[in-house]
Amino acid sequence: MFHERDHTMTDSTIGDGRELVLIGIGAGDPDWVTIEAVKAIQALDVLFVVLKEDELDDLVQARRVVIERHREAPLRTVEFRDPPRPWRSAPDYPAAVKLWREQRREQWAAALQAELGRGQTGGFLVWGDPSLYESTLAIVDEILGALPPEKAPALRVIPGISCVLALAARHKIPLNRQGKAVQICPARLLADGLPDGLDDAVVMLDGKQTFASIDPTGLDIYWGAYLGTEDEILISGPIREVRDESLRIRADAVERKGWMFDTYLIRRNVRRQGETPRTRAAGQGRAQRTNAACGG
Ligand SMILES: C[S@@+](CC[C@H](N)C(=O)[O-])C[C@H]1O[C@@H](n2cnc3c(N)ncnc32)[C@H](O)[C@@H]1O
Repeated sequence: MFHERDHTMTDSTIGDGRELVLIGIGAGDPDWVTIEAVKAIQALDVLFVVLKEDELDDLVQARRVVIERHREAPLRTVEFRDPPRPWRSAPDYPAAVKLWREQRREQWAAALQAELGRGQTGGFLVWGDPSLYESTLAIVDEILGALPPEKAPALRVIPGISCVLALAARHKIPLNRQGKAVQICPARLLADGLPDGLDDAVVMLDGKQTFASIDPTGLDIYWGAYLGTEDEILISGPIREVRDESLRIRADAVERKGWMFDTYLIRRNVRRQGETPRTRAAGQGRAQRTNAACGG
């Protein structure tokens, strides 16, 4: 059951006459911006841009491209910087994180209060889909939830093409198997391998190449890096067979670009005995250019 506040926030006819839109812009290709997102971009009075300390220049640039491509009228942009995240070595780390969250909330709330006028629509561009491993929605929800409903801007969330769906499309595979579940998780939850009972997991936020450290027995991988961009790389096959090549290609790409965005599906192999798996390395489709650049 929804709390009363949620009804208020999702109904753009209620609130204080202001509107806040979180616009999913897809996870790479500017063509993945939906028509609803384009309409929302064109209707914005102000765009809020949060400068995060670990934000990658390429992603900031990608958001600029989306605006340039889909909007002709000038757009007022308000930038504000997230406070620096506390170091893990802080003496009381949980307390430091709590304080950091409060500071961040206050900062965002102050920016919204000062820059979003009555009758105006403000927006955030969110990478991929706003509901998947993104903090923007959670922060905005906290800020609006702390306001009395009649003083809170109405909230709208526009879905975007997540890297998860892009991965499946690029590999031309269904994400689920018939009647089965798929788990989406950060890599650290798979550090000990695919748990019993789970046959399909999409892994995100992997800074440690977890796929290469787990027991590969009976597991296939469908790996995608920089999906939807010029640098897209796709590799698939039994983990045991493609692991080393993937590590090499990944390391080359990190060296060349200075950063990495990758996601992958780990799929328990239920092939019948004697059936040969399909192995596909970088060098097919859009990956070709990257592969050449990697020398692979
Ligand atoms: C903070 S999450 C954002 C996810 C985003 N909201 C979405 O819906 O795709 C960032 C992680 O998503 C994955 N990711 C995002 N864009 C990607 C892309 N173009 N190619 C591969 N992985 C991507 C990576 O695992 C990255 O570490």
